[in-house]
Amino acid sequence: MKDFFNKIISNDEWLIEEEGFKRDLQRTRETQFALGNGHIGSRGVLEEIPYDSHPGTYIAGVFDNTGALATEIVNIPNPIFFRITSRGEKIDPIAMDIVDHNRALDMNKGILFRKTIYSNHKKERFKYESMRFISMHDKYVGVMRIYLIPMDAATDITVQTTIDTSVTNAGMLTEGKKRHFQVTEVYESKGIHYLCAETFEKNTLIAYASKLIVEKDGKRVPVPKRTLRFKVKKGEVICFTKFFSVCTSLDVNPKRIKSAALNSAKKAVRLGFDKMLVRHVRQWREKWKSCDVTIDGDPEVEKALRFNIYHMLICGNKKNGRASIGAKTLSSEGYRGHVFWDFELFNLPLFIYTDPETAKHLLLYRYRRLGKAREIAASKGFKGAMFPWESADTGEESTPAWSKGLDGSIIEIHTMDMEYHITADIAYAINHYYAATGDDKFMLRYGLEVIFEAARFWASRVEYNKHRKLYEINKVIGPDEFHENVDNNAYTNVMAKWNLLRAIELYRLFSRRYPDGISRIAKKIKLYKKELKGWRNIAPRLVTHLYRKKNIIKAFDGYFRLKDVPITRFDDNSMPIFPRGVTSRNVQKTQIVKQADVVMLLYLFSDIFSGLAKRKSYFYYAKRCMHKSSLSPSIHAIVGNEVGDSKAYQYFLRSLYADLKDIHGNTSEGIHAASLGGTWQAAINGFGGAGIRQGILTFDPKLPPHWERLKFILRWKGHPISVSVYKERIELYYKSKKKSDKLKIRVYNILKEIPANRKMVISR
Ligand code: BGC
Repeated sequence: MKDFFNKIISNDEWLIEEEGFKRDLQRTRETQFALGNGHIGSRGVLEEIPYDSHPGTYIAGVFDNTGALATEIVNIPNPIFFRITSRGEKIDPIAMDIVDHNRALDMNKGILFRKTIYSNHKKERFKYESMRFISMHDKYVGVMRIYLIPMDAATDITVQTTIDTSVTNAGMLTEGKKRHFQVTEVYESKGIHYLCAETFEKNTLIAYASKLIVEKDGKRVPVPKRTLRFKVKKGEVICFTKFFSVCTSLDVNPKRIKSAALNSAKKAVRLGFDKMLVRHVRQWREKWKSCDVTIDGDPEVEKALRFNIYHMLICGNKKNGRASIGAKTLSSEGYRGHVFWDFELFNLPLFIYTDPETAKHLLLYRYRRLGKAREIAASKGFKGAMFPWESADTGEESTPAWSKGLDGSIIEIHTMDMEYHITADIAYAINHYYAATGDDKFMLRYGLEVIFEAARFWASRVEYNKHRKLYEINKVIGPDEFHENVDNNAYTNVMAKWNLLRAIELYRLFSRRYPDGISRIAKKIKLYKKELKGWRNIAPRLVTHLYRKKNIIKAFDGYFRLKDVPITRFDDNSMPIFPRGVTSRNVQKTQIVKQADVVMLLYLFSDIFSGLAKRKSYFYYAKRCMHKSSLSPSIHAIVGNEVGDSKAYQYFLRSLYADLKDIHGNTSEGIHAASLGGTWQAAINGFGGAGIRQGILTFDPKLPPHWERLKFILRWKGHPISVSVYKERIELYYKSKKKSDKLKIRVYNILKEIPANRKMVISR
């Protein structure tokens, strides 16, 4: 893979490589090789955009609705378009033969490299090499470079590289392809091309500026306005460098969008390729410094884990709440770019522990939409705030009314009316951020308000059952979406109960520390002590099913009365196949669950269950779980590892390779965001045993037998702690200017005080 870019490309342990061109894998590779910087997401297409590729460029937070079933992320014009012909023949994998082809995603530096040797109908070969990156330093800019050499004969070349406006959103189901924008302005001056598009419904402006620089054997060639034509000798090296910028009217004032786009591109051109690259790489180095995970004893898994982390890093953004991370990141239009609970419970932890500033910005996404969540609650006759099951730009409920079921048929969707747990999940995530950072300011300005409004919602959502003398939450869907319209889903109810109790605790805690801050919030949302009293009354009386049927938590009312059909068939990945006679249409009559539901609870509230209850419940549900969601295996890996399930590592691998090996068969439709975060948690919280117990950072690791050391950094209350986990010991180290600093950390269940600036070795 090394030639022109020898000096730039990282070592093998950082590369995800593609050998040979396989046409049917194109779209899968486009997802896997996606680039991004949190603002822009760009699929890993080949620059010549071969027939049946799906170029995709997305800006975090840019949604539109034209002719779509629901608001969706907009596939904006594609700046990665590069069309080269040699005497009229397109240099492209469909038109020419490929003698050699490989690509490498350099995860260390966020660069996509490529080397292809083409052969035309006369068997004359062309060497084609490219690299490109979406700048981590300048969020509006991308840079690409292509080298072309005719190897066997002189030729005439034409080149077109525009911003390609022919792209469309793929259109799920029956919607058909659609374009969400029209071009409003095109302009060229001094070799800089400018293009502005506007989305149809929301009138968001998307402005591009781009410049192409061409060199032949190191000398600049003048670039005409449109098609570039020139003669090339055999063996002559042509180098194309394209700089482009993309700005939207969501980021800059619409009146200044043109100058913003032009200035960004001009600045990049002025700095030049090398400097732009250095700045970009420097940013990446900083990122990896805080979030790399190394595994001695398994380099392959280490690399795959980096792939999962890489894909979270390219969509984490500091947009002050304008965008969060969708279920398919910015790698595609799958799930229409919508945000689910996947972000809060699966992706957020990586950011909390490696880059809390980004975590804060991403959490603000929910705070900024609290008003809409209040409206949703009110529209259903509830109080407080109820967050939508699927969220796009405005925070309105964006779940489509129908979708494709597991068997490919069209099914009606009820999650928006019943999958309430997301509101507590968001409160849980905010509390998680707070527990790890101690960021009082964030809580006073944003976090508490969300947690209080969520508690208020639950207090109005519960119903009192006079016969049981208990509160219930009926007609819901838990994480296990195989069972709709159930009463008292344990996961939902425990989350709600926790939300109520935590709201009371936080109210008290902050009233002691910041009485003015609390009275400001209380005044703003009209929260009085009487209401808190109500919450205190409800919480202990809420049905939770925690200790029923010999320590096995009941998933929901009536669950144990459903048909118990054993899962006996497994696929090549040891994952379950529906038992004979069970289909996605009748599965609700059985005890078979879709994904971690009770098991999710065991993970999130690990410290409230006894070992016995955990073991019993885990094995009961693991045996009945189909893992028909990519959210499921990682959570089973974590809890399974804790309770001694021999399949725990297999679950981990399934999550780890979800997209690298296209385990779900739909990586072409985008990265499985939750699986990325779940995989990270399975490594750090599962095998690495990191967790929070009674507010204290805890390590109780259990490494897979062949892992010699697991090394990572966790930020805890502002301190980046370097953690090395070995079979029989843990080493902890953190730097602090204050030599007297000490952190309370529980290791192997013993409370320790860890001093700053000294490596602590703790043996089992
Ligand atoms: C899962 C949900 C998840 C959604 C988006 C569904 O199949 O059941 O838990 O939020 O996919 O990833």
